[in-house]
Amino acid sequence: MTQTESQLAQPVVGSDGAAVVASELRKSYKDVEAVRGVSFEVASGEIFGFLGPNGAGKSTTIAMLCTLTVPSGGTGRVAGFDVVTEQAQVRQRIGLVFQDTTLDDYLTASENLRFHAELYGVPREVVGPRLRQVLELVDLWERRDNLVQTYSGGMKRRLEIARGLLHSPRVLFLDEPTVGLDPQTPVAHLELHHRAPPARGDHHLPHHPLHG
Ligand SMILES: Nc1ncnc2c1ncn2[C@@H]1O[C@H](COP(=O)(O)OP(=O)(O)O)[C@@H](O)[C@H]1O
Ligand SMILES: [Mg+2]
Repeated sequence: MTQTESQLAQPVVGSDGAAVVASELRKSYKDVEAVRGVSFEVASGEIFGFLGPNGAGKSTTIAMLCTLTVPSGGTGRVAGFDVVTEQAQVRQRIGLVFQDTTLDDYLTASENLRFHAELYGVPREVVGPRLRQVLELVDLWERRDNLVQTYSGGMKRRLEIARGLLHSPRVLFLDEPTVGLDPQTPVAHLELHHRAPPARGDHHLPHHPLHG
């Protein structure tokens, strides 16, 4: 392991020891109370999921923890950093797999991942091996040079998961990541998590695979 790789693979514990701490998190949009004070804690290395019907506030909770929307109340800490006052530190340490795909159809899988690596400042010498590692994890290594527009829905999902892991985030957030995945795909969640190398650290899985 090079120096840079070992830096990317640092252990995962935030200064307070937990990967995620939500404390009375709230979010209101005018008269809609999207999230009404949710509290939970996710330990380092833990896979944590939450279930709820449409509109329950799952995506909004994730958005607050990912610093994409500011809470109306309460606090959130991710990898030891406050999601409001330490947004940059949080962003550097998280991976996101969201409901809507954000892949570029006109690029190959490898090109999509390289672009992401560039955005996240993954060191040049780490990108190649890391790309292979995450593509093998989701069984897309053989298809890496195909345009994403030739991928099935499930393959795109898997590629997004690979992308979410590419920069070795300490915490990975997935919002309904199984949409479009067959239950038997090699990337069915728990298998993914068990196969994921320990470099990854924490996984926060905010939706149950069977209900994705
Ligand atoms: N940007 C927004 N503006 C207004 N209301 C919103 C916005 N985002 C979410 N909501 C509302 O907040 C509630 C929770 O939504 P959401 O977090 O997407 O739920 P879930 O992901 O559990 O289906 C819903 O009533 C939704 O309509
Ligand atoms: Mg949602």
